[in-house]
Amino acid sequence: MKSRDIRSKFLEFFKSKDHLVVPSAPMVVKNDPTLMFVNSGMAPFKEYFLGNAEPKKPRITDSQKCLRVSGKHNDLEEVGYDTYHHTLFEMLGNWSFGDYFKEEAIAWAWELLTEIYKIDKDKLYVTIFEGDKEDGLSLDQEAFNIWKKYISEDRILKGNKKDNFWEMGEQGPCGPCSEIHVDIRTDEERAQVDGKDLVNMDHPQVVEIWNLVFMEYNRKANGSLESLPYKHIDTGMGFERLCMVLQGVQSNYDTDVFTPLIREIETITDSTYGKDDKVDVAIRVIADHIRAVAFSIADGQLPGNSGAGYVIRRILRRAIRYGFTFLNEKEPFIYKLSRTLSDQLYEAFPELKAQERIIHNVIKEEEQSFLKTLDQGLMMMDRVLDKTTEGELVSGKRAFELYDTYGFPLDLTQLIAKEKGYEVDTEGFESEMQKQKDRSRAAAASETSDWVILEDDDIEEFIGYDVLTADVRITRYRKVIQQKEERYHLVFNLTPFYPEGGGQVGDGGALEAPNGDVIYIWTTKKENNVIIHETKALPKDLTQTFKAIVGEESRHLSACNHTATHLLHQALRTILGTHVEQKGSLVQPKSLRFDFSHFKKVSPEELQEIEDFVNARIRDRLPLEEQRQIPLQTALDQGALALFGEKYGDVVRAIRFGKSMELCGGTHVSNTRDIWYFKIKSESAIAAGIRRIEAITNRAVGRYFEEVEQNYIAVKEVLKSNNEPAKAISQLQNENAQLKKELEGLKRDKVKSLKTDLLAKTQDINGVNFLATRLDLDAAASKNLAFDMGALKDNLFLLFGSDHGGKAILTCYISKELATDRELNAGQIVRELGKHIQGGGGGQPFFATAGGKNPAGLDEALKAVRSFIE
Ligand code: ALA
Repeated sequence: MKSRDIRSKFLEFFKSKDHLVVPSAPMVVKNDPTLMFVNSGMAPFKEYFLGNAEPKKPRITDSQKCLRVSGKHNDLEEVGYDTYHHTLFEMLGNWSFGDYFKEEAIAWAWELLTEIYKIDKDKLYVTIFEGDKEDGLSLDQEAFNIWKKYISEDRILKGNKKDNFWEMGEQGPCGPCSEIHVDIRTDEERAQVDGKDLVNMDHPQVVEIWNLVFMEYNRKANGSLESLPYKHIDTGMGFERLCMVLQGVQSNYDTDVFTPLIREIETITDSTYGKDDKVDVAIRVIADHIRAVAFSIADGQLPGNSGAGYVIRRILRRAIRYGFTFLNEKEPFIYKLSRTLSDQLYEAFPELKAQERIIHNVIKEEEQSFLKTLDQGLMMMDRVLDKTTEGELVSGKRAFELYDTYGFPLDLTQLIAKEKGYEVDTEGFESEMQKQKDRSRAAAASETSDWVILEDDDIEEFIGYDVLTADVRITRYRKVIQQKEERYHLVFNLTPFYPEGGGQVGDGGALEAPNGDVIYIWTTKKENNVIIHETKALPKDLTQTFKAIVGEESRHLSACNHTATHLLHQALRTILGTHVEQKGSLVQPKSLRFDFSHFKKVSPEELQEIEDFVNARIRDRLPLEEQRQIPLQTALDQGALALFGEKYGDVVRAIRFGKSMELCGGTHVSNTRDIWYFKIKSESAIAAGIRRIEAITNRAVGRYFEEVEQNYIAVKEVLKSNNEPAKAISQLQNENAQLKKELEGLKRDKVKSLKTDLLAKTQDINGVNFLATRLDLDAAASKNLAFDMGALKDNLFLLFGSDHGGKAILTCYISKELATDRELNAGQIVRELGKHIQGGGGGQPFFATAGGKNPAGLDEALKAVRSFIE
């Protein structure tokens, strides 16, 4: 069975059981501070488990892209070394939100595996939760009784909290689980060792394929459990492992999910998979990591220096370095795999095809720059090894510097060191690493308490599109400590405050108590579909009705910038072409920023045209046409622009101004004339094929022009009221260049005559043409002069002493034959003489310099040098 059939059979099966099939959510999480990437199939549905939103249907099924590279679930370091862990993998899942529970979940899992996929029942084992004293939970007898109907009791194994109690993170929904394991060893091997002894023992051929989680608890911040209002089912089956089982192979990498990539890597790097362990690990690492990186870029997350971007950069760098070290690839090559990947997966994940060019370019650029860094790191490594004497360990501190600055992981440093016969002090390295971890933990320390519920009101209403003030009640609050500062998160029964989202910053404003007391709301955010208002204090009496007041001016300026962003997007697609796609945006009161795909610099003429286009639409006074609740498909049919990496519901909000139409949740002006004026301030590149425009609107434009004008006036004043300052400046520049040229010529002449004068002044002492003199030239000029003189006269010994801006410099030149025959050594001589100028120096036998901080000692040095000759 081909992998694509395996995937569709799963979805069809659950569709036949009345589940709604939904597409995978984007992998990068936007509205949840506890999670960077979707790390399991249930993460996109977290808000349903928490009761913050209603699912479209109580039964859902999908194949979700998951990434386990940070936080509670992190498999990164294992990937490549075994045959069944991945960074990115697909998780096939079926969900019940307060609908069916254990009985159906178990029955259907068994039916699908044994009747549809026809896995031999004798090869299956299941586990159930044995209970946990600390949490006050007992054995999952219910699951045991259900499983007994399908499988013999001796194949039902008990597991502890680690294996059989699933939690998404430190806090949140959780519950006991039943795992299904499959034994794909040969009959012979199975006869020798019983499969049940190998379950959960990290055996590559006795692996877990499916986890059925019976969600019924919520883990609170203090570690205790509370029951959820409804019981849910969350299941996750590892797609790649299922393919391994059904395709009768022994490794995920031997399935058709990976073989096309592996063949391509073999071709590009001229290597063979399956012959050498190290090469195999490298090939698996690259085949795995390209998927994680490509999917992430397709979802709009580029490699970067912090947060999710940094995680992606680290994954890619890991792949580059395995290619570099074990496949001997010193040039970028991983980017070439993006085609193979999109050809293979475009049906299930069309974003890979649509974004292929960006994926290709971004990876290539990352590879180029990291290979350069690796080169520098290798040079640095040579220096480190130079300083290490034989038998000594390479210092852990140095190894850590290599890791921290050049991205050299310890194993690479060890490898290189070993090749040259050195060992690395790994303990020292670990201790440096720990120190850094402690530092960043202290910096990022944050504490979030549990919600205090004042009023049961699960779904709060957002009314901020229509009004900016409202009477509200606080339904819950919690305390947060971030970087040692105390903050409060308040949730209202309804709110006019716009929460940060769609690139637009959250509203600020105030909360006014009936007695006139005011608490400021610093910002508003959305977390798992709950709108959170952040304050620095709590109102005295929490149970009153407050007036919530949004800061009107900031909101209006954000609205101007948001509408202008849509017009800019339209302008770019009209003027540069429809390949332009939004890659990021920031809308705030003072400015807007828009990132988009485009493969070359936008020319000044194009920028002018874009600015004119937007301003024409502002002058056209286009009214806002908002469709607040329209079916997604209808909006798309009407030509609304949707973004990659964004999660849309079936019903969406569409915003139209003239011919610009976008799916958008942000706040906008009611007519484009409110924007007043649009001005582009800069255009730049942020990654390969991704440009950034920064612009301003409304009164910020007025302020900008005032500043420009003030500067202009100041320039004119300096130029003495010239009406054409650019011309005057260019004249000055020309004059300056002319003067520089003349000055250079004069300097050259001076040195020439100096050379002749100085050669004439040399004195014959014991067959040495000797000269020691003051000469106020800089170090480079002194050196040139000395070598020029050396070319004209043999047996020359020169010592120049110069005072260069308060710094004493000694320059010593000795003709090579003299240095050899008379064993004179310029390096030693300047080191000795350095004492007179309170400094030191060195160099070679025929040329050396010394610097010091005492120019008053120069004359003494010039006198003392004679003794070396005499
Ligand atoms: N959420 C469960 C898991 O990821 C199914 O294993």
